[in-house]
Amino acid sequence: MQITPWEVKGEINYDRLIKEFGVEKIDDLMLNRIKKHTKDLHFLLRRKIFFCHRDLNWLLNEYEKGNKFYIYTGRAPSGHVHLGHLLPWVFTKWLQDKFKVELWFQFPDEEKFLFKQNLTLDDTQKYLYENMLDVIALGFDHRKTKFLIDTKDAGLMYKEACKVAKKINFSMVKAAFGLNDKNNIGSIFYTSMQTVPAFLPSVLKNKNIPCLIPHAVDQDPHFRLTRDILPKLGYYKPASIQCVFMPPLTGPGGKMSASEEQSTIYTVDSPEEVERKIKKYAFSGGRDTLEEHRKLGGNPDIDISYQYLRMMFEPDDKKLEKIYNDYKSGKLLTGELKQMLIDKINTFLKNHQKNREKAKKQVDKFLI
Ligand code: TYM
Repeated sequence: MQITPWEVKGEINYDRLIKEFGVEKIDDLMLNRIKKHTKDLHFLLRRKIFFCHRDLNWLLNEYEKGNKFYIYTGRAPSGHVHLGHLLPWVFTKWLQDKFKVELWFQFPDEEKFLFKQNLTLDDTQKYLYENMLDVIALGFDHRKTKFLIDTKDAGLMYKEACKVAKKINFSMVKAAFGLNDKNNIGSIFYTSMQTVPAFLPSVLKNKNIPCLIPHAVDQDPHFRLTRDILPKLGYYKPASIQCVFMPPLTGPGGKMSASEEQSTIYTVDSPEEVERKIKKYAFSGGRDTLEEHRKLGGNPDIDISYQYLRMMFEPDDKKLEKIYNDYKSGKLLTGELKQMLIDKINTFLKNHQKNREKAKKQVDKFLI
């Protein structure tokens, strides 16, 4: 198992990851503590899809003392947004609504340019715009949400990034990300830029403000460094709340990734594309023949259609449980389960794509 922000290799064992990364599991005690403030629990928490954290107890202690936090998350444009990206953002929106806090959303539009051989800065600019539409389409409140774009907001960020960079040496970057002597110097510097939004609001308001970062586990190596460095500059360590990966269509393990088209559903896909991809590629936990499936039942735990319903498209626990049991008993067939997912995704995307169109008129409101 190797997990860096740019590559996920091998089978992911999340229990082992908790130990290796040194993050804390979200247990029932923590869920109850969150619920005290939010009144209900998002299904992403109930189902342990957001499953680990750093310093969430500290963050809630501060919150309870009246020291409000802000949320920081991001997207490095390299292609169209896919369903996996939406996981942390849907949850971020819920957090923002429940805690009524500010969100700083970073678009490091240089990151993937530095890390991907064939991606130009023109490409990342095109996707920057497209990706901003997706974030806005999820319904973030522009009065409480700021987009920080690395190349455009460099004037605001660069000085702070230099302070961070001075505290990081090459061997720290090698150890955290597996980079080596052949990596370009832009990619070695990059993590300093991703650290900046974790303390920029404190710089601008001239007081220390706690920060909470929702993300999937691949981003943790950045924030491990961030947490080492910020106290040296006089700022709080950011807290984080982390989710598992939405698997690729061809699953059951790994992560949905923008660069593998056949195993990915993009937010701009047409209903026909969604149907084709799911019918053709979605890994099934069903049996080889109808008779066998009816007799022995399927395995929802490895079935991608079921997993997508669990992670995103069936918020109702009772309905989800029925689907689980029906599939396991053989009452529900693979084709029927796939159709359920196709219908849910297409209903979601129809609305999302409408909101993306409307978002074109709103982009300016989110820029700094
Ligand atoms: P990026 O653009 O690769 O991904 C954006 C966010 O989506 C998460 N993610 C996934 N979550 C669930 N399932 C998946 N299959 C999946 N694939 C990606 C990522 O963890 C991320 O939260 N360097 C960052 C950009 C960034 C950022 C941040 C992310 C800058 N500042 C602060 C999180 C928090 C990146 O390349 O993410």
